[in-house]
Amino acid sequence: MTNVLLLTGPNLSQLGVRQPEIYGSETLDQLVDRLTLHAKSLGLTLQHVGSEAEADLVSAVHAARTTTSAIVINPGALTHYGWSIGDALAGYPGYKVEVHLTNVLTREHWRHTSTVGPYVNATIIGFGGDGFVMALDAVARQLAPSP
Ligand code: DQA
Repeated sequence: MTNVLLLTGPNLSQLGVRQPEIYGSETLDQLVDRLTLHAKSLGLTLQHVGSEAEADLVSAVHAARTTTSAIVINPGALTHYGWSIGDALAGYPGYKVEVHLTNVLTREHWRHTSTVGPYVNATIIGFGGDGFVMALDAVARQLAPSP
């Protein structure tokens, strides 16, 4: 089995109750449950770490270095100013996908920059929770041995 780390940052713990008109009605637990099942169907094992704190996300990236082959990350608002997460991802050797539920480029100007964008392989925005499903699909394809 290929291990994948799912990292979620500040306020994503509030999915389902937090501005559902923007972020949808699915809770984080429901999302993680469906991603865990989807990962399994792809032959991946999903581990989830969610935190409101930048330091926890950085430590999770460090710990994932030797135990996982890919990271799927939504750093929440830290995306826009959390340079230490970008630095941690830069040192992570596996495949990396940044996901945002909303299309951040159509929202407030301060959401238009990403500190992690330069250090990931791909970014998926604007598909709600399905963006994480797409990220797992992409990870499975990218990590599959070439024929
Ligand atoms: C978000 C977008 C961020 O700007 C915001 O701070 C979030 C969620 C998204 O998934 O659309 O918390 O990362």
